[in-house]
Amino acid sequence: MGVAIPRRYLDLGDLAIARGVDPLKFTLGLGAREMAIADPSEDTVSLAAEAGRRALAAARLEPSKLGMLVVGTETGVDHSKPVSSYVHGLLELPRAMRVYDTQHACYGGTAGLWAAVEWIASGAAAGRAALVICSDIARYGLATAGEPTQGAGAVAMVIAENPAMLAIDVGISGASSTHVHDFWRPLGHRVAEVDGHYSVQCYLDALAGAYRGWKERARAAGLLHTATLASEQLARVCYHVPFCKMAKKAHVQVRRCDLDDARTLWDVAGEEASAAAAFRGQVEPSLVACSRIGNIYTGSLYLALAGLLDRDAARLRGQRVGLFSYGSGCTSEFFSGSVGPRVVERVRALDLAGVLAARERIDFGEYERIMALNVPAGGGNQSPRPGSFAFTGVEDHRRQYARSSS
Ligand code: CAA
Repeated sequence: MGVAIPRRYLDLGDLAIARGVDPLKFTLGLGAREMAIADPSEDTVSLAAEAGRRALAAARLEPSKLGMLVVGTETGVDHSKPVSSYVHGLLELPRAMRVYDTQHACYGGTAGLWAAVEWIASGAAAGRAALVICSDIARYGLATAGEPTQGAGAVAMVIAENPAMLAIDVGISGASSTHVHDFWRPLGHRVAEVDGHYSVQCYLDALAGAYRGWKERARAAGLLHTATLASEQLARVCYHVPFCKMAKKAHVQVRRCDLDDARTLWDVAGEEASAAAAFRGQVEPSLVACSRIGNIYTGSLYLALAGLLDRDAARLRGQRVGLFSYGSGCTSEFFSGSVGPRVVERVRALDLAGVLAARERIDFGEYERIMALNVPAGGGNQSPRPGSFAFTGVEDHRRQYARSSS
């Protein structure tokens, strides 16, 4: 895995004070501490390319071993030319490979992940690996309810036959989709339209369907026994994290499905305490990085996974984790995988702490100034940091990028 985030962030305490909101609403109510703010030189492409470069370096993979590059995004930069084609050029990847984008809101990266996993599992990859990158910039209107749930970043994953970090349970997943208007961004709009509370309900409804589908397949494959709740047989569960409190609501929902399916007459007061303890043990460890970066749409689930492995790699080796991906609109999938044998070494290369520590805190005034800037035509005037890429503007309708010399 490789993670790339903008160089700047806003502390949500500063946002709360400026908006006249109790800071506890953001920290306790939403579970958010900081959010990444992309400046005009940091776009979906530059973040994706940086994450991709980091993932290839961490896996020590020769680009000639790649047969597929997929970028999942809902903040594309062109109606036709995919983000992946820019990334393909910036990373100087080989010609003999498939290169394309996948889109379904925050599920887009998971669509790419499954395309790569099933390509490898089918034998069609013939020993080649895939690079899957989730890259997005989450924006809502200023002073709206969604504002504290913005963020930006990219997570790249090398998908290969002998996985070092996580071996996905191929064929064991549950999906749930339905046509809803919970969150969307009409063509030409810079910020998302969202029916916030309805979107939370859509997420929870989709989760119940997808989780039950996964349970059915996992049970048929002999991965689950009946002695304890199915969710408790997963060492950890990572969710799509639009804001950290959502993962808590999600885990309560999963337990509710387990209890209902077991036709248990649950004691409501007792279950509240059990669910809180289960959340602390199974989910909270994955949320530290998410609470400091915010929503990164397609990459949010995988940022939670990276954060979890960063913290608990050695402890989790060989254990099964659950993953839930949700894309508004909506489609969703619950799946699982076992933590791989070389996870500790790969987490060291991921260096999530170093990525977070390299950031600069900005004040509210600078945040508002950046949000008002006119992109994309202007581009950025920042030169890229070592090992990264920068969007420098549009010339003759062609987006231009600079890469650092080291
Ligand atoms: N101290 C402590 N807690 C407080 C508080 C205070 N002073 N004030 C409020 N709270 C709590 C509330 O009780 C509430 O907690 P619960 O959810 O547990 O009840 C929480 O803080 C949020 O308060 P509100 O519901 O009043 O917040 P809101 O209406 O202003 O906005 C939101 C919440 C609708 C989620 C909004 O942030 C939003 O629209 N976000 C964007 C949409 C989104 O992220 N949807 C998630 C599902 S869709 C998806 O997952 C796809 C995607 O990536 C977008």
